[in-house]
Amino acid sequence: MNTKGIILAGGSGTRLYPMTAVFSKQLQPVYDKPMIYYPLAILMLAGIRDILIISTAEDTPNYKKLLGDGSNWGINLNYVIQSKPGGIAEAFIYGEEFIGNSQVLLILGDNIFYGKLDFLRNALGQNKGGTIFGYSINNPSSYGVVEFDDAGNVLSIEEKPKQPKSNYAIPGLYIFTNDVVAIAKNIERSPRGELEITDVQKEYLKMNMLKVELIGRGIAWLDTGTPESMMEASTFIHAIEKRQGHKIACLEEIALEMGFITKEQYIATVNQLPNCSYKDYCLGVVG
Ligand code: TTP
Repeated sequence: MNTKGIILAGGSGTRLYPMTAVFSKQLQPVYDKPMIYYPLAILMLAGIRDILIISTAEDTPNYKKLLGDGSNWGINLNYVIQSKPGGIAEAFIYGEEFIGNSQVLLILGDNIFYGKLDFLRNALGQNKGGTIFGYSINNPSSYGVVEFDDAGNVLSIEEKPKQPKSNYAIPGLYIFTNDVVAIAKNIERSPRGELEITDVQKEYLKMNMLKVELIGRGIAWLDTGTPESMMEASTFIHAIEKRQGHKIACLEEIALEMGFITKEQYIATVNQLPNCSYKDYCLGVVG
């Protein structure tokens, strides 16, 4: 089934204030790239070429300046403004026209994944309704938490529970059939005034159409919502890049690897970059 991708890159970023007083969270650096490069790289590596970026009215022009229409990377980038941060599930309402008849992979703009992405490609191929992921972490209380039985059936989903029923947090990566648009339109706002992604998941659960796929320890999942977690993500990316000599989330390299652009297009794109270590790296890839 055709899959379209959405990156949700709005929000208030209050926890990162004063860094977010002028620039949106997902434009902040994670080591050597703007944060949004990382979720964009994941969508591209999952084979998705039609991508919608949802952000605020103030920040959308900056995303357009940074990423353009995506043609340099052989992808198609679209933009929609979320008038105020009314919840993650609003992405499907703002994205209605874009989603059309396709299934959709939503990734939050502050989520970083690193590792072999077979789990994601398999889940995209197998999704029949909704697929969420479960990732074991030390303290899942600040996330949605999923409880499941031995057969992998979801038993409960709770948003930021004080006493979590499992250690499995739900990362900001969700696959839904296009029924999600109607579902998002029908759920009620939570007491904090938001359309909650957990309420969307619960609707799929009621219809017996929700699957949870566990992401193993071989994948790193980091989020970057606080100064400390941003610092940790930067340190992580730096350590791997320095050791391996390969960049993580170099969009030009991924576009070439995925066959989204030819070698000639790659060289033309890279030649336009200003002189910097990122360009040197890109040149080295085909050198
Ligand atoms: P959060 O981290 O829950 O919220 P936030 O980014 O506004 O930050 P803070 O809690 O510090 O105020 O959001 C998760 C991701 O979803 C993040 O990438 C921002 C995005 N988001 C939107 O784009 N629109 C929204 O309405 C919400 C709630 C989040």
